[in-house]
Amino acid sequence: MCGIIGYLGDREATPVLMDGLKRLEYRGYDSAGVAVLQQGAEMTSVTKSEAKVDLLIAKLQDNMPSGRLGIGHTRWATHGKPTIVNAHPHTDCYGRISVVHNGIIENFAELKQELEAAGHEFVSDTDTEVVPHLIEQYYKGDFLSAVRQALQRIRGAYALAMFSLEDPELLVGARLNAPLVVGIGEGEYFVASDITAIIPYTKKVLILGEGEMAAVTPLGSTVTTLDGLPVEAKVIHVDWDVSQAEKGGFPHFMLKEIQETPEAVSNALRGRLDEDGHVSFMEFNASDQHLRRFEEVRLLGMGTSLHAAMVGENVIEDWAGIPARAQDASEFRYRRPTLGERTLTVVITQSGETADTLVGLRQARDRGSLTVAVTNVVGSTAARDSDGAIYLHSGPEIGVASTKTFIAHLVSQYLLALRLATAHGRVSLERREEIARSLKTLPDEIRRVLANHKEIARLAHHYSRFRNFMYVGRGLNHPVALEGALKLKEISYLHAEGSSGGELKHGPIALLDRDFPVVAICTDCATKEKMISNVHEVVARDAPVLALVSEGDHNLDDLATDVIEVPAADEAASAILSSVVLQLFAYHVAVELGCDVDQPRNLAKSVTVE
Ligand code: G6P
Repeated sequence: MCGIIGYLGDREATPVLMDGLKRLEYRGYDSAGVAVLQQGAEMTSVTKSEAKVDLLIAKLQDNMPSGRLGIGHTRWATHGKPTIVNAHPHTDCYGRISVVHNGIIENFAELKQELEAAGHEFVSDTDTEVVPHLIEQYYKGDFLSAVRQALQRIRGAYALAMFSLEDPELLVGARLNAPLVVGIGEGEYFVASDITAIIPYTKKVLILGEGEMAAVTPLGSTVTTLDGLPVEAKVIHVDWDVSQAEKGGFPHFMLKEIQETPEAVSNALRGRLDEDGHVSFMEFNASDQHLRRFEEVRLLGMGTSLHAAMVGENVIEDWAGIPARAQDASEFRYRRPTLGERTLTVVITQSGETADTLVGLRQARDRGSLTVAVTNVVGSTAARDSDGAIYLHSGPEIGVASTKTFIAHLVSQYLLALRLATAHGRVSLERREEIARSLKTLPDEIRRVLANHKEIARLAHHYSRFRNFMYVGRGLNHPVALEGALKLKEISYLHAEGSSGGELKHGPIALLDRDFPVVAICTDCATKEKMISNVHEVVARDAPVLALVSEGDHNLDDLATDVIEVPAADEAASAILSSVVLQLFAYHVAVELGCDVDQPRNLAKSVTVE
């Protein structure tokens, strides 16, 4: 979704805003803009670009506004095309009040009508523009009070950063159903959609809660509810470092993040898994007795996180023997919920801010279900709103397509399944030890996959001439196939779909011909023989086959068109190793096609609107 940033302090605001917007660009990149209160000139300078942040930066470098207070925005369009007039910041009739917004104002049409009737003139098609006009309408000499009154009228989702010419030492942030953090530096303050925008400047961060506002002045920041009641805000210290949010010599964040996977796995395991397979989570430390109460597990997520949920569903049922169900959170929220106190709800979300997932979480909680968020972002809304949290500790992920965090999610699902299996007494000590050994060797096995990088790139080069792909797997490799297909379509815009091996012949096989290759995951697992039968079926239809097999397995050498060997491992570890192969494959196909790998068209890293 859109990224917003605000600055108030002793430095020149414009370079800080430019830098922050570059770091936030992964949230959206349809258009961008900044507003800076120009010192001495008693005017606000607004600069916008109808394209990515780089174009904005070029404009600003030609004509750099000077001032110590400013706001910036990088947009993922909802209402109105990505044009200059629709780019944020938006202002009131006289350009005194400047606002940037992430979210959707649901009642903007009625507010706009009311404001137009009162004489306000609108220039854009956006929902956001009602905000500065509404504040203007209520302004009687007290900016904060006008903001409060305006926000009382607004329905929907917002993270806002705003200032007024009339109050040159006041930066205001507010949030409802969209994330906003306040960074506290030495004599300087920031508001931003997320921590990555401000880590070069401060590690002290205050995370605004739902329906809270921050009034930032050179003397400090005050947090209140939208009604003005004081809130005791908790400051957290962030342990991400700035190099993690930079490319560090790699051509793309996506490649850098894939290379960081071994470390992401180590971080997800650290301190949680004993040699004997005993699992403990610091922020979700329910007793065995408590965990035994659960008769069902629901797993909610979207996109890549939904695929991680499907892997979780599979291992929880298999290892712990508890009925488990992975659900698309956006569908779950509109169904008649059948969960209750005996259901453990696991929400899977890298960002911790996906709107649909958060609504699902709240619905589950309202029905008495115990909730646990599996997320990469400490202090995110999902973590705060859940009863427990399992943090991935993967460090920031900037590439829009999730890679290292998908793998860390799978590791977390394995740990959770093992934890539940132990509490329910459904797993032997030997089996626990075996799983623990396999998980602990994973970082080294992933390094071996990464070392095969050139071969995967060679195959990607060859396969990039096709326009359609079918990914096929069974068991855990079914969600792995779905995720492989998603990765390819997200970043290369090629048509790719995933199917279970069994489902293939019930429809999808009709698509196949010599121009429609199949990526078949045939690594060692209980259903390997069935997968090999599927490969025979598709070869009989002339479809080229790229098969993933366990190292040393030559069964498909004469059948598949091409074979990629994956280090031999048990089914759970193998699903992870195959996923890394498919991420690299998608990456190289996209690079081969000249696509913008880190910022694929139409997508946003974190979707904070429904
Ligand atoms: C967006 C992203 C996907 C991501 C999904 C869920 O659609 O483009 O890559 O998987 O959101 O995000 P979450 O932060 O909840 O894991």
